[in-house]
Amino acid sequence: MELRRYGFLLLHLHILQAVIALEEKNIISKLGDNATLSCIYNKKNLQLKNLRVYWQIADDSYQEKCSVVHALISGQDDNRNQCIRFKDRTQLFWDRLEDGDFSLLLLNVSQSDGHTYKCVVQEKIDRPIVIHQTEVVLSLAASYSQPILSGPIRNSDSTGEEVTFNCRSGNGYPKPNVYWINKVNNSRLSPSKTEIVPHDDGTFSVFSTLKVKATSNMQIECSIENEMLQENLSANYTQQKKSSDSGTENDENLEKKGRGAQAAGIIGIVFVIGVLTVLICWLWRRRSSKLVSYRDVQPREDQGGLNSPA
Ligand SMILES: *[C@@H]1O[C@H](CO)[C@@H](O)[C@H](O)[C@H]1NC(C)=O
Ligand SMILES: *[C@@H]1O[C@H](CO)[C@@H](O)[C@H](O)[C@H]1NC(C)=O
Ligand SMILES: *[C@@H]1O[C@H](CO)[C@@H](O)[C@H](O)[C@H]1NC(C)=O
Ligand SMILES: *[C@@H]1O[C@H](CO)[C@@H](O)[C@H](O)[C@H]1NC(C)=O
Ligand SMILES: *[C@@H]1O[C@H](CO)[C@@H](O)[C@H](O)[C@H]1NC(C)=O
Repeated sequence: MELRRYGFLLLHLHILQAVIALEEKNIISKLGDNATLSCIYNKKNLQLKNLRVYWQIADDSYQEKCSVVHALISGQDDNRNQCIRFKDRTQLFWDRLEDGDFSLLLLNVSQSDGHTYKCVVQEKIDRPIVIHQTEVVLSLAASYSQPILSGPIRNSDSTGEEVTFNCRSGNGYPKPNVYWINKVNNSRLSPSKTEIVPHDDGTFSVFSTLKVKATSNMQIECSIENEMLQENLSANYTQQKKSSDSGTENDENLEKKGRGAQAAGIIGIVFVIGVLTVLICWLWRRRSSKLVSYRDVQPREDQGGLNSPA
């Protein structure tokens, strides 16, 4: 352990001594993706057994003790000092090492991986010397969901014809910019309230409210910008164009006709039911009156029958 620390100190001294231009690259990766941190030394046919490759976190502001991301010593992974959170998440490209490609694949990145990473390559012939080093800044991002625009909702409490629009989106990172645009003349509108809510998984949701005076041809757009990804997602509202007056009347007439037909249909059905009811009642009465007359007749016949033998 002590020796190893000493080794890293030595390494830092070498870095200080080395007069090698330090190139810096920026990489943007989406949450959950695999990021490739590139470190390429343009020299072929390197002897792996003479090489040491160190990947470490090199943020100026990095406070945590552990900074070892990945180490390759004498041609073998040596991750005994690797930070626990990088365990099983780092891979070198074995088929490319001898061609001087020491890039590191970092699996399933999350917000906490947003750091400056340094790749240091040492070659040890008699004593180790730094032959290559590079820095990669990894930034994390996540696309926002397609925004959902709702409204206009008429504000009953306000004087005048003020309406409210709401726009929401989520699952994004980092925090978004929200733009409301009047598409009639492409002017910016100021929302009355914009709320950005963080979630446990590190992403943000956004809720924005716009209050505007209602006009006859409202065209409103809500745009959610992820500056890091250079992404703008928008949703728009366009007031339904009212057709010409005659068209509207026609529509109304059609509607009236439709209602009239409906009413006629209902009346017809009621009428038929009524007729049927009357008919059934009449038939039933006729039947019962026949029965009654039959009954009326029966006793007389019986009487007659009884009487006749007498
Ligand atoms: C990341 O790499 C792992 C292992 O190589 C693979 O299983 C996974 O599908 C990759 N994920 C993405 C998002 O490419
Ligand atoms: C990726 O990392 C997240 C935490 O950052 C974890 O919840 C998830 O299970 C991991 N996914 C894979 C495929 O390892
Ligand atoms: C854009 O049009 C709205 C009315 O729809 C008006 O109130 C506003 O002043 C216009 N803005 C510009 C910059 O012309
Ligand atoms: C997103 O839209 C806003 C408003 O229209 C604009 O100012 C900004 O430049 C756009 N961003 C990108 C990345 O297109
Ligand atoms: C408004 O959004 C709809 C889809 O929601 C799209 O089809 C239409 O082209 C958009 N209109 C404008 C003016 O951006």
